[in-house]
Amino acid sequence: MRLAVNSVGVVGAGLMGSGIAEVCARAGMNVLVGELTSEAAASGRARIETSFDRAMRKGKLERHDRDDALGRLSYTVDLDEFADRELVIEAIAEDEQLKVDLFSRLDKVLTWPDVVLATNTSSVPIMRLAMATSRPGRVIGMHFFNPVPVLSLVELIPSLLTEPATVERARTFAAETLGKVVVNAQDRTGFVVNALLIPYLLSAIRMLESGAACVQDIDLSMVLGCAHPMGPLRLADLIGLDTMKSIADSMYREFKEQRYAPPPLLLRMVDAGLYGRKSGRGFYDYSAS
Ligand code: 3HC
Repeated sequence: MRLAVNSVGVVGAGLMGSGIAEVCARAGMNVLVGELTSEAAASGRARIETSFDRAMRKGKLERHDRDDALGRLSYTVDLDEFADRELVIEAIAEDEQLKVDLFSRLDKVLTWPDVVLATNTSSVPIMRLAMATSRPGRVIGMHFFNPVPVLSLVELIPSLLTEPATVERARTFAAETLGKVVVNAQDRTGFVVNALLIPYLLSAIRMLESGAACVQDIDLSMVLGCAHPMGPLRLADLIGLDTMKSIADSMYREFKEQRYAPPPLLLRMVDAGLYGRKSGRGFYDYSAS
C-alpha cells in the first residue's frame, strides 16, 4: 500500500474542520471542504481566510504561500464530490447520530480502494463510526487540537478493527505531511487529552458555581500560578460550551463517574445559547472582538 495521500476531504467547516482544512492546504494538499449549506461553507471559507491573514501578520506565512494554499481549497455542499478522495477527515458537530449517519453515507460514496476514513471526534467511540461502514478496517480517529494551525498534537486512535496499513497511512499523513506530533491512544472516550482536560474544566465551572472565586480570578490563578497559556474558563469558551457538554455527556455515559457529569451552570449556559467565543458570549463577552 502506498503511504502518501494526494487528496484530502474535510467534512465540516466549523472551528475544527476549518482549522484542519487550513493546515492540510498549507501542507500542499488539495482539500475539498464539505458543508451542509452554502452559507456554512462560506463561513468556513471566511474563517480560514481570517486565520491565513493572522498567520501572515504573525510572520508565519508568506503572501504567495497563502495564495497557493487558498488555491488548493475548494468547497462543496454535495457529498458525492468526495468520491475520489484518498483521505477524508470528518469534523462535524460532536453528535454521535449525525456522525454515524455521515460515515454510512461516506462509505457509499468513496471509491478509492485504500481510502482512509478519519474522524476528529473527541468523544464518540471510533468503533461506533467504523461499524456504520462496510470497511471498519479503514476507519481511524485523528484528533486535532484547537487552534489547529498552532497546536502541534494529533491523537491517533485505531479501533479494535482498524488495519495496520490504515494506522500507518494516517500516522504518515499527520507526522510527515502535516508535521504534527502524533501520540497513540486507545479507543476510550476522551482518549488522552480530554480524559485529563475535561474534568479540570468542569471543576473550574463547579468552583465558579459554588462562589469560591470569580471568573477572572479562577483564570488568572491558573495563568499566573501554573503558567497555563489561558485559564480554564477562557479555554472552555474557546472549545465551545456546547462541545464541552457533548464531550462531558459522552464521558459520563462511558465511565459513569460524577467528575464527568456536566454541572448545572454549563447546562444552563448551553440552554441559553451562550456557547463561548463562537457565539459571542460564554464566561466572557466577545461581542466587541
Ligand atoms: N497560523 C499559524 N500560527 C499562528 C496562527 C495561525 N493562524 N495564529 C497564531 N499563530 C502563532 C503565533 O505566531 C504565535 O507563535 P509564536 O509563539 O511562535 O510567536 C502563537 O501561534 C500564539 O499566537 P498568539 O501570540 O497570537 O496568541 P496567544 O499567545 O494569545 O495564544 C493560543 C493563543 C494559541 C490560543 C494560546 O492561548 C493557547 O495555546 N491556549 C490553549 C489552547 C488549548 O489548550 N487548546 C486545546 C483545546 S482542547 C481541544 O482542542 C480538544 C477538543 O477535543 C476539545
